[in-house]
Amino acid sequence: MGERKKVLVARQVFPEVVEALRARFEVEHNDEDRPWPPEELARRLRGVDGLLSSVMDRVDETVLAGGDRLTVVSNIAVGTNNIDIPACTKRGVKVTNTPGVLDDTTADLTWALLMAAARRIAEGDALVRRGGWDIAFRMQDRLGADVHHATLGIIGMGRIGQAIAKRAGGFDMRVLYHNRNRLPEADEKRLNATLVDRDRLLAESDFVVVMVPYSPAVHHLIGAAEIAKMKPTAILVNTARGGVVDDAALVAALRERRIAGAGLDVFEGEPKVNPGYLDLPNAVLTPHVGSATRATRLRMCETAVANLVAALEGRVPPNLVNRELA
Ligand code: GLV
Repeated sequence: MGERKKVLVARQVFPEVVEALRARFEVEHNDEDRPWPPEELARRLRGVDGLLSSVMDRVDETVLAGGDRLTVVSNIAVGTNNIDIPACTKRGVKVTNTPGVLDDTTADLTWALLMAAARRIAEGDALVRRGGWDIAFRMQDRLGADVHHATLGIIGMGRIGQAIAKRAGGFDMRVLYHNRNRLPEADEKRLNATLVDRDRLLAESDFVVVMVPYSPAVHHLIGAAEIAKMKPTAILVNTARGGVVDDAALVAALRERRIAGAGLDVFEGEPKVNPGYLDLPNAVLTPHVGSATRATRLRMCETAVANLVAALEGRVPPNLVNRELA
């Protein structure tokens, strides 16, 4: 038997995943779950054949410089904006991701934030807990927004965007979408969704959801100018990536009630959060948990392991991102 290949797991995963990896490879696993800074990750990559990375691990030139034997970076995520893909391709390092397995779970969380912001759930919860609920059923207390029969605008109509749109059917909503490509007619019909330009979507939607993969081209896709086009009663939801929304602009708009609310799972520079959000009652904030159910996170790990194993066995991984290395 030849020498066992080496795998580095940059963040803590599930014990059964580590066990499955150890059956095939020599494994270094980040039991502590302390994110390794780039220099440390680079150092630990020496002699490693495959890296299992998370969205918070930057895999750039500094890190890749340590990967003297590296052949695959298997990201346990659908997004790959933490990875310098051209730099990997140049070095012949395959990059893979985990599409498909987290669509429904992320769509569910998007809806949870949308509904929480619409019906002011976090505010109400905080009120009850601090004993501030003094008189029951005031007629005009904590009035929120109707979700049913409202207009939902989705920017980015990939798999997750479509899963979000599908759920709108149960609420009898009108669905507008904006996307690079028009969906096939059958999908538009199934989702009851109409393609519109971005300005119209912003102007007509009661709920605006952004669901685009991050790239420099979509940095601050929603900034002050776009927020200004939204209704004062509208709610913005971002479960895609920090940086797609300009946090400073959104904080200012929420503070001045230029829009009614926001539901946010992702932030620029996370885990840091713009402190402006913290005292805003009309923002519902979650810590990047779009895919965070046990079943889905496990499926993501399994998909990432399947990609890693394929690459290390010289096969084309099922979810190869830099296809030119196929
Ligand atoms: C999570 O954010 C992912 O990209 O899978």
